[in-house]
Amino acid sequence: MQVHIVPDAAAGGALVADLFEEVIREAGEAGAVLGLATGSSPLTAYAELIRRHRERGLSFAHSRAFTLDEYVGLSGDHPQSYRRFIHEHLVDQVDLPASAVDTPDGAAADPDLEAIAYERRLQDAGGVDLQILGIGSNGHIAFNEPGSDRASRTRVVDLAPSTIADNARFFRDPSQVPVRAISQGLGTLAEARRIVLTASGAGKAEAIAHLLEGEMTDQWPATALQQHPQVTVVVDEAAASRLTRSDTRHS
Ligand code: F6R
Repeated sequence: MQVHIVPDAAAGGALVADLFEEVIREAGEAGAVLGLATGSSPLTAYAELIRRHRERGLSFAHSRAFTLDEYVGLSGDHPQSYRRFIHEHLVDQVDLPASAVDTPDGAAADPDLEAIAYERRLQDAGGVDLQILGIGSNGHIAFNEPGSDRASRTRVVDLAPSTIADNARFFRDPSQVPVRAISQGLGTLAEARRIVLTASGAGKAEAIAHLLEGEMTDQWPATALQQHPQVTVVVDEAAASRLTRSDTRHS
């Protein structure tokens, strides 16, 4: 894994945006398949991509995108749905056609079937060229909570109590935080051709230490990325504060 420790979130966003720009330019008119995450971590990267679109003409017109996950029970137009989030923070501000952005349907009558169908749509698109990930304080990636199988595919998952607590900040009434999600699996994520994981703040330091210096274990799901050949990790000093090996700090 390639590790970048950056001074602040803006510097991290610029590095991540560089990777997106490279993948989009390499794909040309064939179009890149972008894997998008929601939550706070990717926001500076999305802001930088929007800036490059407006000021430098970076175009997403040929790209397609798939999001990682969606809350079960929320329709795509619910203010807290991840579909709404990704439209607000990226899609609606660049020239990525709304019809080219796929998210699991959290309001599907049968969420298990929707999970299988979403996995198939992703495969049919040829898989993801570049996936951006955040990481949970408990080490989850997408909503693969501790104990998730490394071979798992898109499915309905129960959110861990710590994830429900972490996500409560986005809901006016904490009792409204959904407890289940449709999430890409660890096996699904492993097939992305490139991955960039970004994290900031001391709350992520333990998870980042496990990811970069710990044993591979299903108790820290992000450690599954240790097997992936093309992972870039972009963290600020606070998220890197529990790294102890000098080779990780300087890789
Ligand atoms: C979001 C997702 C989650 C978040 C993680 C970190 O689509 O799947 O894994 O990336 O919970 O969230 P933030 O970035 O809000 O700290």
